[in-house]
Amino acid sequence: MVEPVRVGLMGTGVISDIYLTNAAKYAEIDIVACADLDVDRARQAAAKHGVARAYSPDDLLADPGVELVINLTIPRAHAEVGVATLAAGKHLYSEKPFTIEREDAARLLASAAERDLRVGSAPDTFLGGGLQTCRHLIDAGAIGQPVAATAFMTGHGPEGWHRNPAFFYQYGGGPLLDMGPYYLTALVNLMGPVRRVTGSARASFPERTIGSEPLKGQTIAVEVPTHVAAVLDFASGAIATLVTSFDVWAADLPRIEVYGATGSLSVPDPNQFGGPIRIHTAGAKDWSDAPLTFASAENSRGIGVADMAAAIRAGEPHRASGELAYHVLDIMASILDASESGRHIDIQSTCDRPAPLPEGLPDWAVRA
Ligand SMILES: NC(=O)c1ccc[n+]([C@@H]2O[C@H](COP(=O)([O-])OP(=O)(O)OC[C@H]3O[C@@H](n4cnc5c(N)ncnc54)[C@H](O)[C@@H]3O)[C@@H](O)[C@H]2O)c1
Repeated sequence: MVEPVRVGLMGTGVISDIYLTNAAKYAEIDIVACADLDVDRARQAAAKHGVARAYSPDDLLADPGVELVINLTIPRAHAEVGVATLAAGKHLYSEKPFTIEREDAARLLASAAERDLRVGSAPDTFLGGGLQTCRHLIDAGAIGQPVAATAFMTGHGPEGWHRNPAFFYQYGGGPLLDMGPYYLTALVNLMGPVRRVTGSARASFPERTIGSEPLKGQTIAVEVPTHVAAVLDFASGAIATLVTSFDVWAADLPRIEVYGATGSLSVPDPNQFGGPIRIHTAGAKDWSDAPLTFASAENSRGIGVADMAAAIRAGEPHRASGELAYHVLDIMASILDASESGRHIDIQSTCDRPAPLPEGLPDWAVRA
């Protein structure tokens, strides 16, 4: 039995609950402490999930018993918390977006390399049963060589459900940085790295009204584009169209479709872990359902940290890597730059497609 990696969780807000719930199911990680700027909130989360220690952020980083920090703070704190985590000699796994600025992400990767530490980042939904089955189908040639893709994330923003939604409309927010990582990580995992992008972005409404408690009725001034349309050229030659929007009340669009030389694949919601998957091969009369052939189809948030922990112990590469997250951030930042400057932008970064998970794993497992 390999010793689990001892984890500290930084930021005990909305998303922390599912990490704390699922961490108990992965043998590779043991959450030994949690922390928040609001230490009472950290205490409550620790009490609910039986976590031994609840701290201020500084005390968490000073704990020699913590080997890896999961950074679940708000996007504009990701870089600062990440820098401090690595400086404290701990591995870092960050929620998305990895950071807001490319320079900060590059600094994190360099700092980790200097210290021989690992950096990983959400999203890890590409390790779920739905997207791993899609990867397997594409690699097995089920639709031939991908030539194009479409990806649509449309909605009217999170102010209807999140308890403190201002950050979604402030520096580092917006539909592209918030939801783009799911769509772009899925596309890069399926089709490889992107070589150039262009796009148009706008903020359609200057303010948003919160519809959820406890801040219901308050308004948020919009600082970031809330409708972003992009075109991506992959290194392989394939071309994808991506729309991310918080400005759309209703749409009847697929999430992701990949179009190959011999057929099309309907890819499930990349913000989820399961299906459905549909395939339509050339000459067929209609779409047919493709069964999931990989496990982890229910909400398995944390599978990326578990894989990183297993990789740390085994000395292997991990899948939800800093390099992948950096490439995805570079694509997003370049789309926004392209909109401002009115041209195509060549993507300076690249990454390898992460290795697929082994076939035949049960739920809550990352190694055979
Ligand atoms: N809410 C979701 O459904 C969801 C889903 C997936 C990913 N995420 C991502 O997870 C992250 C957190 O989102 P959330 O919805 O949980 O936000 P949240 O506002 O509910 O929680 C963030 C927590 O981080 C704490 N915090 C802020 N700065 C800090 C710092 N410097 N040090 C320590 N603690 C700090 C806050 O006090 C708060 O408790 C974001 O990056 C978001 O994009 C959220």
